[in-house]
Amino acid sequence: MTRVETASVAGPGQTPAATVGSFDLSIIIPTFNEAENVPVLLRRLAKVLTGTQIPAEVWIVDDASPDGTAEVARQVDVPLVVRVIERSGPRGLSPAVVDGLRVARGTHVLVMDADLQHPPEAIPKLLGALRAGADFAIGSRYVAGGAANEFGLLRVLNSKIATWMAVPLVGSGVRDPMAGFFCFRRADVDAETLNPVGYKIGLELLVKSSPGRVVEVPIDFGSRHAGQSKLSFAEQLSYLQHLRKLYAHRWPTASQAALYCAVGACGMVVDLACMTVLMTLGVVFSAARVASILVALVGNFVLNRAITFPEANRRAWRSQFVKYALVCMIGLVLNWGVSTGLYHALPAWHGAYLLFCLVGIVAGTASNFLLSKHIVFRAGR
Ligand code: GDD
Ligand code: MN
Repeated sequence: MTRVETASVAGPGQTPAATVGSFDLSIIIPTFNEAENVPVLLRRLAKVLTGTQIPAEVWIVDDASPDGTAEVARQVDVPLVVRVIERSGPRGLSPAVVDGLRVARGTHVLVMDADLQHPPEAIPKLLGALRAGADFAIGSRYVAGGAANEFGLLRVLNSKIATWMAVPLVGSGVRDPMAGFFCFRRADVDAETLNPVGYKIGLELLVKSSPGRVVEVPIDFGSRHAGQSKLSFAEQLSYLQHLRKLYAHRWPTASQAALYCAVGACGMVVDLACMTVLMTLGVVFSAARVASILVALVGNFVLNRAITFPEANRRAWRSQFVKYALVCMIGLVLNWGVSTGLYHALPAWHGAYLLFCLVGIVAGTASNFLLSKHIVFRAGR
């Protein structure tokens, strides 16, 4: 359950009710244990927004922070419309932003962190970019003039790899798709299509709303004002899960096929490792082959069930395994049939027999994949 309430109110004589619907900008700020930062942030926001006369509402979306962030936000005395959402249940940056999006009323929506790593002074530029025709504006560390000062080597590498893994989704033109500081038109986004996993809600929005023109405004991503980052190792792992979902959204069949092939490659490694162990233990080759192939088969089944086809019917794993083994058998026969058929049909090409094998492998794999997808791991109702 989520509680929404109003904390302090803009300018003398104004009430939130009177201003509903008339905001140019809704600022969504997810918070967890940011009690020390929120007052500083709100004061800096108030200065920027009143100075530039941007009619804005601020949503602090807090996850029952033990340090009393929500209460602090309610008490801050600033000339701003500040509303506080207190979430309960599983906490998370992205779901908090989505909750904010559900209630935001501004024409434009801006998302930023509470720890002052995102300079509020850049907001007019981000909004200006949208008014000038951009569909999505990012406060970016990686364009000329931008900076990310506080980063250690490990985090730089981490961020680079994460960015690189998202390139096929957003194109290489977007330099900082990992940013948590961005602005878009509310009408361009349907909150209900968002699948908030982990930290990268900006990436989620870029992929789901496919904005035409993305503009990056350089920012100096400074150091945290107070407190600690909540970006845990678990959050970084959930990024991989998030990527899987985004790829599946963009290219449903191709991304499944790629995962299926990756699992197949793992299976090969398992098979060879198993062989090495068994041969070292002195097991007869033909028997070792049987055991290794079976181990790889079981491993591939488990991985495909868990990763490639996670939407498959969860209950019937026994019959699924039998079907999977049969499907692999069909693939094996097809592989053999196609390569042998080609070999006999094209005697002039015998020197290129490996090519026939390759065609056989592709045919077998394609058959394995399609039968696995449509028969073995058919999505459950
Ligand atoms: N409601 C809520 N719930 N807010 C959260 C949660 C949560 O579970 N976890 C973090 N936040 C809030 C923090 O309080 C802060 O305002 C903001 O989300 C960012 O969290 P940080 O913990 O400061 O993240 P970071 O600095 O490591 O990462 C930031 O920079 C990354 C770029 O490398 C974020 O902006 C990321 O989105 C961004 O990718
Ligand atoms: Mn931070």
